[in-house]
Formats: sequence, C-alpha cells, structure tokens
Amino acid sequence: MSSDVRPGEPAVSSIKMIRTLAGVAVISGFLIVLTVKATEARIETNKREALEAAVFAVLPGATTQATFELRDGAFVRVDSPTPGFDRVYAGYGPDGELVGVAIEAAGMGYAGTVRALYGYDPETQTVVGLQVLESLETPGLGDRIGKDPAFLANFEQLDVSLNEAGDALANPITLVKAGEKTEMWEVEGISGATISSTAVASMLDARSAEILPLVMRHLDELKEAR
Ligand SMILES: Cc1cc2nc3c(=O)[nH]c(=O)nc-3n(C[C@H](O)[C@H](O)[C@H](O)COP(=O)(O)O)c2cc1C
Repeated sequence: MSSDVRPGEPAVSSIKMIRTLAGVAVISGFLIVLTVKATEARIETNKREALEAAVFAVLPGATTQATFELRDGAFVRVDSPTPGFDRVYAGYGPDGELVGVAIEAAGMGYAGTVRALYGYDPETQTVVGLQVLESLETPGLGDRIGKDPAFLANFEQLDVSLNEAGDALANPITLVKAGEKTEMWEVEGISGATISSTAVASMLDARSAEILPLVMRHLDELKEAR
C-alpha cells in the first residue's frame, strides 16, 4: 500500500487543523449564543403573557390593564407587564373605570418559596382573587393552595381594610382551621397542609400591610392613568 505522506512531512498541517477547530468553535459558540438569546426572549414573552392572564384572573371585570412601578413613593406607569415586587398592575373595566389592583406576594412555604398574585378592590377594601404563580409545594397536599376551590374561595372577599390612619391593616389576615372562620379577614386553612396555607395568609398579610397604604394614597394616579 502506498502513502501520499513523504517521510518527515506531517500528515495534516497543524495550522490547518487549528484553523478548522477554531472555526468550528466560533460557529458553535455563535449558535449557542443565538439559541440562548432566542430562548430567553421566548421565556420572557411567556412570563409576560402568563402574568397578564393572571392579572385578569384575579381582577374579575377587568378588560384592560396597566403596569405601574413604584419609584420614590409614587406609581409611575411603565410599558411592560413584567413581574416584580416594585410593581402593581391596575385593571380597568369596559368604561375605563379602575376595577382593582393586582399585587404580587411571596413567602416561604413547606418546600420553598410560594409566589402569588392577588387582586385588591380599593372600593370595598377586599381581596377579590388569588392565583399561585410559583410553588414547590407537595402535589396533593401543599399544592392545593393553588387548586382547591374551597381554599381559593377565601380570596374572593377577604377584608384587608386599612385602619383609620390609613397606614396599616385594621385587622391582620389570620389563618384558622377549615370550618372555623368567623371574621372577614380570616383565611380557612387546608387540613394536612397547614404550613402551605399559613404561608399564603402570612404573605398576603405582610404584603398588604406594606403596599395597600401606598395604593390607597395614590389611587387617583392609578385611576387617571387609563
Ligand atoms: C412528604 C410530606 C410532604 C408534605 N408536604 C406538605 C406541604 O406541601 N404543605 C404542608 O403544609 N404540609 C405538608 N406536609 C405536612 C406537614 O408536615 C404537616 O404535617 C402539616 O402541614 C400539618 O398540617 P395539619 O395540622 O393540617 O395536619 C407534608 C408531609 C409529608 C410527610
């Protein structure tokens, strides 16, 4: 068998090999960056759409919405409805009237952080809807916070009215056992999932105490923005 390679001559030029490898590396890197960018954009769009749907779900009667960012103690309208603790989402009815404000809350559950969006009606000073956005709670137990109709009914008319000074909740949102609710600010827990239920009640209480005085103080800005 004969060979084209003469004695003393390298089978393939090292420079050629390095060039080819470098080319492949550059193209692969480029493709990876492209894929990551395309995926990131898709994930962002999905998040935004999910948030928009959640805002409508927790604010019955809302047909349009607007996002506001809290800047130096005032609400400033921003374009994109991305999730965030520095934001609230105002929902408007068909005639442009403010139906309510959707607010994000988060807290530690049984297995990790629970994130939820809840709707607040400033007219009646009640929570009017809740949707769990993210949870690692146990399927069949803690994850019922996002699915159990009886538990979710707690958040269809939950009293979160402010005190006379308007700087705190008149009554803290409190968890009670299923069937033991006597006050409008009480949340009936899920039996066997008390930790997850408590997490929801506590995060709503903390977040409401912090944000509702601001929402009420700036209600006119939220109403006029439509
Ligand atoms: C494997 C396993 C998973 C559990 N997951 C949850 C959960 O997601 N949320 C929760 O509140 N309790 C969960 N629990 C139950 C809690 O340990 C605790 O017993 C319960 O919250 C107490 O509620 P109860 O007083 O209504 O029985 C889990 C228990 C086990 C053994």
